Amino acid sequence: MAHRWQNDLTHKDITPEPLFWNRRKILAGLGGVGLGAIGGGMAQAEASPLEPNTWEEVTSYNNYYEFGTGKTDPSEYAGQLTTSPWSVEIDGLVDRPGSYGFEQILSEMTLEERIYRFRCVEAWSMVIPWQGFELSDLLALAGVQAGAKYVAFETLLRRDEMPGTRYPVLDWPYREGLRLDEAMHPLTIMATGIFGKPLPNQNGAPLRLVVPWKYGFKSIKSIVKITLTDQEPPTSWNMANAREYGFYSNVNPTVDHPRWSQATERRIGGGLFARREPTLMFNGYEEEVASLYAGMDLTKNY
Ligand code: MTE
Repeated sequence: MAHRWQNDLTHKDITPEPLFWNRRKILAGLGGVGLGAIGGGMAQAEASPLEPNTWEEVTSYNNYYEFGTGKTDPSEYAGQLTTSPWSVEIDGLVDRPGSYGFEQILSEMTLEERIYRFRCVEAWSMVIPWQGFELSDLLALAGVQAGAKYVAFETLLRRDEMPGTRYPVLDWPYREGLRLDEAMHPLTIMATGIFGKPLPNQNGAPLRLVVPWKYGFKSIKSIVKITLTDQEPPTSWNMANAREYGFYSNVNPTVDHPRWSQATERRIGGGLFARREPTLMFNGYEEEVASLYAGMDLTKNY
């Protein structure tokens, strides 16, 4: 049964129980994917416990280029974005194409909290308690047809509310894509909240993708369009610089960005004792997702 969003729920109300439960889920390899995951998951969790970053860190150090390229631009300028009413156009190879209202989507989905590591291609990372639902559940609402192989996503482009889109930093609207099996993976979620509250605009309100084993730029914000297709879709960062940003963008400490190493990362908010931590293959979700790429050369498919 679908859980309705409760706006009066604060993070305090749902802690410590769900937090504890989620930690255990993470320890067990997340999503009950299987007992085989426990060993690897445990070792990782001990090495770097998933202590969430603070609300302040998660909402004031952002990448959302539609509002400017500075880390504080989104928190400064995204407040003016109108996020209600909101609808998502789902089209392409689906049985029930159409415009899906955000409220309608919420009423159909089961919301849950998951704490995921989030790793940016610029080699910083955060740990964020997300609320949302599995992307596969949303795709099921539209009915994926047999010929579909990829999912393409588009962000809203509303120039008068998005000052950053005056500059040709990227070919707007922001676009991203996943292979269908990546999109259907239980770790892939559509987030609608953080810390038990609706998503702040700077984090991609009212709904954004979160793919925890990929670099942060795959996690496209404020989605207005989802297209099921049989072709690998163009993606903004690949269009901007194909040598630096591939379609897959899996977190991989052994494949460097052409201009910098991807072997280590800096936890945002680490404070006085901050030191760089080794980056984990697939951002620590190797047990769960490595099989998606069996037989692929990850230095070519970066
Ligand atoms: N989505 C849109 N529409 N525009 C963007 O500029 N930046 C991406 C991704 N999604 C971006 C986007 C990048 S580079 C990262 S690291 C994450 O959003 C940042 O998400 P956060 O600000 O919630 O941490």
